[in-house]
Amino acid sequence: MKQTVQTLQAKKQQGEKIAMLTCYDYSTAKLMDAAGMDMLLVGDSLGNVILGYEDTISVTMEDMIHHTAAVARGTKNALVVADMPFLSYQTSVYDAVVNAGRLMKEGRAGAVKLEGGEVVCEQIRAIVNASIPVVAHLGMTPQSVNTLGGFKVQGKSLEAARKLLSDAKAVEEAGAFAVVLECVPAKLAELVSRKLSIPTIGIGAGAGCDGQVLVYQDMLGMFSDYCPKFVRKFADVGTVMRDAFALYQEEMQKGNFPAQEHTFSISDEVMAQLEQEAE
Ligand code: KIV
Repeated sequence: MKQTVQTLQAKKQQGEKIAMLTCYDYSTAKLMDAAGMDMLLVGDSLGNVILGYEDTISVTMEDMIHHTAAVARGTKNALVVADMPFLSYQTSVYDAVVNAGRLMKEGRAGAVKLEGGEVVCEQIRAIVNASIPVVAHLGMTPQSVNTLGGFKVQGKSLEAARKLLSDAKAVEEAGAFAVVLECVPAKLAELVSRKLSIPTIGIGAGAGCDGQVLVYQDMLGMFSDYCPKFVRKFADVGTVMRDAFALYQEEMQKGNFPAQEHTFSISDEVMAQLEQEAE
């Protein structure tokens, strides 16, 4: 079933959980879509897991459009959400609408995601008014790593928890149709989920959220630079891949690959003629 803003909001009303994973390419999108994922997030985490940066700051609009278009080509049913990269929306409301529009027109995203609460509500309102659905992102917002002082749990003090709840209400009021809560205490995320009518999608925010998202390389055990506490490894694909790469190398060295069935034939006459000419 094709997922839309409306079907996802209906899931919250019916108490049905929403499944989201990050995705950055066509073949993975096809697999995730076939597995029944509700939303595919072309996260700016592509800066970390695809491009090898230490944070998401350097990711560009061109990077995001390129990967979003690939994911969109591989997706039939899931809603494709594209992250707005650092400084593509913070600079002005105008920039926000133009760049969200590019992710939709050139990347074929079905929605965009941006980080921040009350401070980006004007942007959210303007993007939604341009008929582009918006997912907000609160808690640990990686584009603010330099002001947050590192990748840390957010909303632990009364003041910080109050601010997170009021930001969540503000983004809902501004028109966001869902909100990602990253690295937020589980009880606070559960309260936010109860107080909002839009779905909350948690990552490191406990089971009380209306849905969950993970970076797929983390949940498949493909990324070993670091592993956050909230990740569960659903498979050890990293080991499967490394073993297959090593086996390929070994089989080639031994002359076992390629075998006869992997080759194309040519007639003996043609070869005989060619051999003669090549002498
Ligand atoms: O970029 C990303 O992958 C994200 C998720 C961590 C929510 O924003």
